[in-house]
Amino acid sequence: MRGENTLCLCCSIPCLLTLFIWMGLSLQNYKPNCYIEDFYVPALNKHINSTATTAANFIFFDLKLQNVMEENGVLYDTINLTFSYGLNPSLPIGKYTLPGSYQGHKKTAHRRDVVLTHGVNWDDAFAAVLNGSKVVFRVDLAGKVKLKRFFSYSRTKALVVGADVEVDGSGNKVRRKAIKLKSGRSGKPKLQLEAGGSFISSF
Ligand SMILES: *[C@@H]1O[C@H](CO)[C@@H](O)[C@H](O)[C@H]1NC(C)=O
Ligand SMILES: *[C@@H]1O[C@H](CO)[C@@H](O)[C@H](O)[C@H]1NC(C)=O
Ligand SMILES: *[C@@H]1O[C@H](CO)[C@@H](O)[C@H](O)[C@H]1NC(C)=O
Repeated sequence: MRGENTLCLCCSIPCLLTLFIWMGLSLQNYKPNCYIEDFYVPALNKHINSTATTAANFIFFDLKLQNVMEENGVLYDTINLTFSYGLNPSLPIGKYTLPGSYQGHKKTAHRRDVVLTHGVNWDDAFAAVLNGSKVVFRVDLAGKVKLKRFFSYSRTKALVVGADVEVDGSGNKVRRKAIKLKSGRSGKPKLQLEAGGSFISSF
């Protein structure tokens, strides 16, 4: 009896409940969500004089990384972004590397930057958007993460996701909402389901 009493640090019902909820949340095992929030291709902006834009061999992007877990942090290893042009096959046109970082629970991080491109036939692409067609780019993300749980880190997990990004003659992505990068490659452009409710996805 005496031993039981001295060992009991958390014996009340509310305290136990809190402990269980905290432990439950700490077992969450979600990889971060990745989104293309913005994507701007100056060379395809038909409102800018084309002599000025032929020199614009870059794409502006805003990548959003979202840790959806309530209690666990995410440790990112180096992340590689590969940008491609066209579909099946798509031509790699640029690479961008993000250094490793740590992200606390329920945090969102943005990386806004430009990636230099090479090998794009901007004349063809520009002609396409000029007549109202859309041009498709692809963004692939490859990295590794560890999830922080209690006081230790999980095994290394691969984070490999990507998405097609349609761009029109404004130079901006057609889809106004953020585009979620997903695992597995979609074969061809298709009508995407609205992703409004899918903020939490488990792997
Ligand atoms: C584009 O540049 C050309 C030559 O530099 C100029 O004649 C033309 O007026 C410009 N057009 C626009 C829309 O700025
Ligand atoms: C627009 O241009 C693209 C590429 O130049 C071409 O493939 C497409 O057929 C054109 N579409 C229209 C409606 O003219
Ligand atoms: C990222 O790119 C570097 C250099 O190309 C490569 O060594 C590394 O394995 C890549 N990382 C991933 C997760 O693909």
